[in-house]
Amino acid sequence: MADIEQLLHARLARAFAAVANGPVDPAVQRSQRADYQSGAALGLARHLRTDPRRLAAKVLEHADLDDLCGEIEVSGPGFINLTLADEALGRLLHGLSADERLGVSTVDDPETVVVDYSGPNAAKEMHVGHLRSTIIGDAVVRLLEFLGHRVIRQNHLGDWGTPFGMLVEQLAGDDRAGIAELGELYVQARRRFDADPGFRERSRQRVVLLQAGDEATLRLWRAVMATSRRHFLSMYERLGVRLQDADFAGESTYNAELDGIVRDLATSDSDGATCVFPKGFTNRDGGPLPLIVRKSDGGYGYAATDLAALRHRIEDLKATRILYLIGQPQHLHLELVFATAREAGWLAPPVRAEHIAFGSVLAPDGKLLRSRDGGTAKLADLLDEAVERAAVHNADPEISSAVGIGAVKYADLSNDRAKDYVLDFDRMLSLRGNTSVYLQYAHSRIRSILRSSAEAPQPPVIEDRHERALAIELLRFPAAVRKTADTLEFHHLAGHLFGLSAAFTAFYENCRVLGNGSRLTLCDLTARTLRTGLGLLGIGAPERM
Ligand code: ARG
Repeated sequence: MADIEQLLHARLARAFAAVANGPVDPAVQRSQRADYQSGAALGLARHLRTDPRRLAAKVLEHADLDDLCGEIEVSGPGFINLTLADEALGRLLHGLSADERLGVSTVDDPETVVVDYSGPNAAKEMHVGHLRSTIIGDAVVRLLEFLGHRVIRQNHLGDWGTPFGMLVEQLAGDDRAGIAELGELYVQARRRFDADPGFRERSRQRVVLLQAGDEATLRLWRAVMATSRRHFLSMYERLGVRLQDADFAGESTYNAELDGIVRDLATSDSDGATCVFPKGFTNRDGGPLPLIVRKSDGGYGYAATDLAALRHRIEDLKATRILYLIGQPQHLHLELVFATAREAGWLAPPVRAEHIAFGSVLAPDGKLLRSRDGGTAKLADLLDEAVERAAVHNADPEISSAVGIGAVKYADLSNDRAKDYVLDFDRMLSLRGNTSVYLQYAHSRIRSILRSSAEAPQPPVIEDRHERALAIELLRFPAAVRKTADTLEFHHLAGHLFGLSAAFTAFYENCRVLGNGSRLTLCDLTARTLRTGLGLLGIGAPERM
């Protein structure tokens, strides 16, 4: 095990436990003063009504740290400062370089995790609204798989209900429309639906026919779905996300379940609609808040399919953790669905359902991102622009695609997930600053150093302070991955990779690498860490740039 933070944590925890006669979290942290610091003696001393400095010294008497630390001291009011020994750094790095996983162990208790992500609406082109769900979801899948979990991807496509009645009616028997025409037809159908009562009525009939399994209606609906799926799959391939045909589990999947779902719930009638009123939810006036499972016209909506999907994931897929990658505006919807499932007894520990929420993508003017004609910005256009801009600096189309798509993904993942962010092509493709291009460039530069050196890599010997700083960053990779997994906030990992690259740059500027086998090992470890880290974000690391 090469995870330095866990090692220090474990050693200090044992010492604290011996002194306190019970478990104490040593709260080991990176520090400016030494390499690591624990402030746990301060809190414990207050609790035991004793002097914190004396307590810290006593903990150190019980601590077995000699093989890891050079300097160990009590500082200030009772902090424990730990400075890693150069010799220990070399030894740990040597272990790391033999480890394909770069010190990141798999979890002891793997789970079956459902990740619900992307979920675009059929018959429309994928737009920027589904970008974050797709990108973050893909990173979640990659990370959890890397940690040894069994991950089931679920693409909860919007493929059912009123919009499809409208569309099938508008198609008027023609089943050969491509995705762009479908988008156009959809807009026309919407307009007609609002203006023409006869069309509206026929569309409603169509929904009923569709949900009842009428063959002629289903044939047209299937044609629309086939076109849509092809379009989505081509976008996923372009984005390099893992979603495949087998992962489509749209709302329509649950059609046959819906009657049974509603029957098993404690529902009440509200203005003709069938509703659940989960406990603890109130509207603005303090009245109970409904989750509408069946509309007054008898049709099932978004809530019913989400309930059916949740039950399926628990009972059939046997998931113990279910993650929903959906924007913040749907938080209440999900909370109501989860509460309903809890009250129905379907959702109970150890099974957890979690909303992994995120903010919106904004245009530079701070408004929601729009296309040139004022409509919703198409994802394909956005990717085209990023790749075109990347192509200005890279003749090779494969590289400009890795750079352009990587930049879009990294700009998303390196931002605080919960917050909105502004889509800024200049910034995301800049060679300076916290960008994927910077990391990809650092990686390819190291790869070229390694290619051109005749020297064989040697076990690392740490002497210089720049080597030291780089060594510690390399050893912190497992902790960064752990923190990212705990929070599913990828800016932790992105920030770590950025810090690692900065440490590498300082090292490379100050330490002569050529002809030095120990330093080549540091180079190799840096390149591998960057590639693995970018890989967890779903971003490619080209060999040459
Ligand atoms: N189709 C939905 C939308 O565009 C997203 C689906 C999210 N997943 C879910 N289980 N509700 O808003």
